[in-house]
Amino acid sequence: MAAGPDVDRVAAAVADGPPALRFPYDATVLVAKPLRTERLVLRPLEASDAADVYEYQRLPEVIRYLPWPERDRTEGYAHTAKRAAGRVLAADGDFVFFAAVLPGTPATDDSTRDRIIGDFMIRTSSVLHAQLELGWVLHPDFQGRGYAREAAQALLDFTFETLNPHRVQAFLDARNGASAALCERLGMRREATILEEQYNDGEWQDTAIYGVLRREWAAARG
Ligand SMILES: CC(C)(COP(=O)(O)OP(=O)(O)OC[C@H]1O[C@@H](n2cnc3c(N)ncnc32)[C@H](O)[C@@H]1OP(=O)(O)O)[C@@H](O)C(=O)NCCC(=O)NCCS
Repeated sequence: MAAGPDVDRVAAAVADGPPALRFPYDATVLVAKPLRTERLVLRPLEASDAADVYEYQRLPEVIRYLPWPERDRTEGYAHTAKRAAGRVLAADGDFVFFAAVLPGTPATDDSTRDRIIGDFMIRTSSVLHAQLELGWVLHPDFQGRGYAREAAQALLDFTFETLNPHRVQAFLDARNGASAALCERLGMRREATILEEQYNDGEWQDTAIYGVLRREWAAARG
């Protein structure tokens, strides 16, 4: 039998070996040694970032494709505190949020601190199968400038290099063109569209799943 794409893929998957996440991972180490990109600093989100986060969390255009309710300031701050509490990746569902800090731009509540323009998430989908998830939100004033791509690429590289997943995925509202474009810029493939998977804001919503395998990421990064 001639080798076809499926046979090649199975052989490549076998060569990749079994799941081997480097867990547990405590992101507290990144407080003192944050990730740095050309224009941004990525460090674990803190409860004290809530004012900057609320500046985008409260905007209808930001939550349009997120399964988030409209939150008042108190609820928004509590939400940020909850997300900031996630520091250790060890079990399914564990998450760490990263604040994207733009040096030289003052925070909305304190001109001596740099502003948080968005946040980026790593979540554990499956320890057993070494599958992790990324997510992202950026303030609209800073969209369309490549910041999301810069941060998400750095986080994807960090995720593969440090945590060793077999595959990284993202879940989006299937109508979210900006997020889909970002996934594709990162080398992720649209793997599925799940019809009417969630009921948000009074309507059924299709969910798109994007994914990239470790060997695909490695080939793309050279
Ligand atoms: C999804 C989201 C993070 C994407 O942000 P974004 O700014 O569009 O993404 P990028 O950083 O990749 O920027 C790409 C755009 O910047 C432009 N750009 C400008 N300067 C650039 C630079 N130096 N480098 C790269 N791109 C640059 C690109 O040409 C591209 O423009 P286009 O959209 O007109 O093609 C943003 O839309 C968002 O936060 N949405 C609301 C929350 C949300 O829905 N999150 C996703 C949930 S799944």
